[in-house]
Amino acid sequence: MRLAASARLARGKGRTIRCARIHSSAALMTGIPAYQAPYDRLVRGWLISIAALIAVMVLVGGATRLTESGLSIVEWKPVTGALPPLSQEQWTQAFDAYKTIPQYRQLNAGMSLDEFKTIFWWEWSHRLLGRVIGMAYLLPFLWFLWRGVPGAGLRRRLWLIFGLGALQGAVGWWMVASGLSQRVEVSQYRLATHLVLALLIFAGIVWTVRRLSGRARSAAASRLRVTSVALLLLTFLQLYLGALVAGLRAGKIYNTWPDIDGGLIPSAARLFFETPWWRNLFDNTLTVQFEHRMVGYALVATAVLHALDAARSRAERSTVNGALWLAAVVILQATLGIVTLLNQVPMDLALAHQAVAIAVLTLAVFQAERLAGRQGEQAAQKVARPVTQTG
Ligand code: HEM
Repeated sequence: MRLAASARLARGKGRTIRCARIHSSAALMTGIPAYQAPYDRLVRGWLISIAALIAVMVLVGGATRLTESGLSIVEWKPVTGALPPLSQEQWTQAFDAYKTIPQYRQLNAGMSLDEFKTIFWWEWSHRLLGRVIGMAYLLPFLWFLWRGVPGAGLRRRLWLIFGLGALQGAVGWWMVASGLSQRVEVSQYRLATHLVLALLIFAGIVWTVRRLSGRARSAAASRLRVTSVALLLLTFLQLYLGALVAGLRAGKIYNTWPDIDGGLIPSAARLFFETPWWRNLFDNTLTVQFEHRMVGYALVATAVLHALDAARSRAERSTVNGALWLAAVVILQATLGIVTLLNQVPMDLALAHQAVAIAVLTLAVFQAERLAGRQGEQAAQKVARPVTQTG
């Protein structure tokens, strides 16, 4: 580790002043002051655990949606809601509240209390996990702040992640509320906002963990840097479109491949029958699924070209490996998407498609951060020079 190495160097005679410069430069890179170096690993371990919990949360959220459980709790009580119904009377009350919403009347009329309990437990577990993540983030964060561990830059970043997490709780309720009065399921716009915000927080944490390593930017041609960022942006677009497909149940309606609605490219009249035309991009099940396919193909093509480019330009080994892994997992994900579609979206395949989406995002963040997120080589050399000169 860079900080440990510089601490060892500091023990040599006559290097105190130069090494103080190294310490402060390394601290700038990791965001943790050099005298707090032992906390470096602790902060990283904490953030990695939060990222893992968010990944689990996204999957539980997916299972909640796929089992149509998301509207089973019709109120939002951030604190007291942590307790599930404990007596028969409380269960009956919760069930009666569910019976008042259109989803029960139109889709689940006659459901038994035991069936209600199943959908209740999915939604309750999803919300409970949200609370657990909130606490697992907030308590160590406050402790790190109290110990003065994060430098100003890292502190700002951690507050931002905290703010986005709090917003996510509110977005979750905003999404549920959209399905309580007129509709029988939640709005696909809100579902997509909820999923993308979760994955944005996840990506922000993964990026921060990578930055904390303090490694300098990998040397690579600027085209590789541009395509690594393009891949990350395309991935986010694709996650958004995937959530729209899921929210509209579009995978259950159009489930042929490579054809869709009778052709490789559906007719413009059917792709754009709603007015104004742009509504089709978000509302029309055919258009939304077609977009998800096209962006999927674009992602596969860009990832493969990026990997070939990295290998041919003899970029650093980590860059080539990162590009190859990303291309392989994107291809796996596209294949899984097709299989999920052809099988009419069974729970196991749909969840696997969601899990691999998180893997794609993680690898895309790794690659963009490796190539475009770190300080340039020159900055790294500025840190290293005093040691090598005096060696
Ligand atoms: C290549 C990159 C791809 C990525 C990153 C991706 C990502 C996603 C995501 C995040 C979802 C939302 C899951 C949820 O909210 O539960 C989704 C849904 C879906 N995707 Fe993809 N997808 C990709 C490619 C494809 C392809 C090529 C197809 C088929 C041609 C496909 C078919 C589907 C279907 C049918 C759903 C709806 C599943 C459901 O209702 O649970 N995907 N995708």
